[in-house]
Amino acid sequence: MKALAYEKAHPLKAFALELMDVDEPQMRENDLLIEVRAVGVNPGEAAIRQMRSAPPGGRVILGWEFAGVVVGTGPAAQGFSIGDRVMGTGDVMRDGCWAERLAVDYRVVARIPDQLSFADAASLPVGGVTAWEALFRDQSGLPAGVENVLVVGGAGGVGSMATQLLKSRTSARVISTASRSESREWCTAMGADLVIDHTKDVAGQLRAAGVDQIDLVFSAKGTADNIGWIAGVLRPFGHVATTDLTGATDIEPLIQKSVSLHTEMIFSRVITGHDVHRQGQILSELLDHVRPIVTTELHGLTVDAMREAHSLAESGRTIGKTVITA
Ligand SMILES: NC(=O)c1ccc[n+]([C@@H]2O[C@H](COP(=O)([O-])OP(=O)(O)OC[C@H]3O[C@@H](n4cnc5c(N)ncnc54)[C@H](OP(=O)(O)O)[C@@H]3O)[C@@H](O)[C@H]2O)c1
Repeated sequence: MKALAYEKAHPLKAFALELMDVDEPQMRENDLLIEVRAVGVNPGEAAIRQMRSAPPGGRVILGWEFAGVVVGTGPAAQGFSIGDRVMGTGDVMRDGCWAERLAVDYRVVARIPDQLSFADAASLPVGGVTAWEALFRDQSGLPAGVENVLVVGGAGGVGSMATQLLKSRTSARVISTASRSESREWCTAMGADLVIDHTKDVAGQLRAAGVDQIDLVFSAKGTADNIGWIAGVLRPFGHVATTDLTGATDIEPLIQKSVSLHTEMIFSRVITGHDVHRQGQILSELLDHVRPIVTTELHGLTVDAMREAHSLAESGRTIGKTVITA
């Protein structure tokens, strides 16, 4: 089959993905074989492209957000049949979906309704599952006492889903951050009650809006840089849920507020084997709470389309989600 793949980690300016012939995916017993019809492209994949190289003689296939059709089932895969339209993420330790076909554990896959296009479906899984798990953890809702939530990076793929989920599943007041008129408008369209600018005095903007303190900060972007003012606006014993924590983030400013820190890694379940089914359930439940967030739709799984998608992902300016249809 054909796949967009590369050998050595590389920067955007030396973009080296090529459309190449590769072996068919190796099926495991829990797997579905999916014919890929659309993929979402994320900053995380662009980051992995810069860091991950293939072993000698090998190649890397990225891509962990897809919509497609089931064309094969492993002996232990349950609940899906050939011909089902599905969406999902996958396993970052295995080959991804920027290929004609993908083998993926059935427990991290969900059926998509007939009325949802493949492109729209491919915009949901990564932001949706990431935001859900970071906000709600293993619980049915937000931690007790959370009334004011600040979504930092509200217009991005993850922030868009966080805002929609909060508005649909909770009674919290949702304040999102955006620094441009178009990203502000998008946050409002996602349902934010208030939009403020993360490049300006956040505490001052909150005070001016009559918000004394934030109970939970959902920090999707820029956490390492923003941690000082995040700590400043949080109430003591509040919560920080973050999706972009790196080892280099200094969490010292949070200490005097005694906060709970929610870290999130979308592949935790599939990598560790912990409650893997729950990811498929979350994906299914998402459909009741969010609408698709495609803002750029590129056509054809080609080098040019993927280069453009990586360029958008690395800009840090994405609104919603970039999707490529096969
Ligand atoms: N943990 C996981 O499992 C997981 C899963 C998915 C994603 N992620 C990570 O989560 C992060 C967010 O992903 P995404 O897809 O939402 O990203 P994205 O779509 O690229 O986010 C873009 C948005 O971020 C805003 N932004 C840029 N710099 C910012 C800053 N310094 N402070 C606040 N907002 C800023 C921009 O708003 P303005 O243009 O208005 O400034 C833009 O709309 C990425 O780092 C990604 O790698 C992690």
